[in-house]
Amino acid sequence: MDLKTYLKQQCTRVDAALDSYLPKECELPHSLHKAMRYSIFAGGKRVRPILMLAACEAVGGDTAQAIPAACAMEMIHTYSLIHDDLPAMDDDDYRRGNPTNHKVFGEAIAILAGDALLTEAFKLISSPRFAAEVPPAARLAVIHEIATCAGSYGMVGGQVVDMESEGKPDIDLPTVQYIHTHKTGALLKASVVAGALVGGADKPKLTAITRYGEAAGLAFQIADDILDIEGTTEEIGKDAGSDEARGKATYPAVMGLSEAKQEAQAMMDEAMRALEIFGSEADRLREIAMYIVKRKN
Ligand code: IPE
Ligand code: IPE
Ligand code: MG
Ligand code: MG
Ligand code: MG
Repeated sequence: MDLKTYLKQQCTRVDAALDSYLPKECELPHSLHKAMRYSIFAGGKRVRPILMLAACEAVGGDTAQAIPAACAMEMIHTYSLIHDDLPAMDDDDYRRGNPTNHKVFGEAIAILAGDALLTEAFKLISSPRFAAEVPPAARLAVIHEIATCAGSYGMVGGQVVDMESEGKPDIDLPTVQYIHTHKTGALLKASVVAGALVGGADKPKLTAITRYGEAAGLAFQIADDILDIEGTTEEIGKDAGSDEARGKATYPAVMGLSEAKQEAQAMMDEAMRALEIFGSEADRLREIAMYIVKRKN
């Protein structure tokens, strides 16, 4: 199966599970549940859940057991996007090819839809139904990993430094590296680590997968910065040129566009090297790393 077909197939699996886990629009409060579903089903690539499944596969696990955590990760990611687009943050009008959540439902519901998605994610992975076959210690480790990477030591921390660095002309490389590894890298790393934990990875495999996740996660955000410059709003499904307009601390802003491209490639190479201890069982992770830097949306 080629990567495109694989991504589509895994996307369909994740979407069906998300539909089954999320509260229905007919349940109260209708507006909130409608807003949560609106952003979840607006057309994301599902990179994080797919990475989680691929990591589980790479360590020889049963990917069906990783589906709840994969969906939880997509809920957390989608919450981060809803809040990222708010007027108080990036103030963007388009996301996933559609008007942003607050443009449709208003700021209060958008904030609350984000809050509810974050909470729903932890409800899902703390549920006794979540991978009942996986030892409790591994399940607890998954919850701890995801919580750590989503909070102030991870995504939220990165978002704060992203905001605080806006419009400052003298941002250095270590700062932008901190922003990218935290606001974006952390959730990508947590995705593969969670997949490996569900799959019962031993220590060397877990370490390798962690290194892969860190490098691929940074490559992903550098590619996002590049797409913000080179992509069109139609292609990327969100406001192109938003970073320059807001004076964001990005890799192209700090080191130039062609150097940023080289850095994304170098991170991709590092992700590949991290997988050296694996055979063909990690080929999907390798293909996804290449896709991360080559993607057009
Ligand atoms: C966008 O993430 C925000 C970043 C962290 C770069 P994605 O590019 O994965 O967005 P979706 O989920 O496909 O919409
Ligand atoms: C997003 O970074 C990181 C998040 C935690 C959502 P960006 O602000 O660059 O993401 P986009 O470009 O709006 O998707
Ligand atoms: Mg942002
Ligand atoms: Mg943004
Ligand atoms: Mg961006």
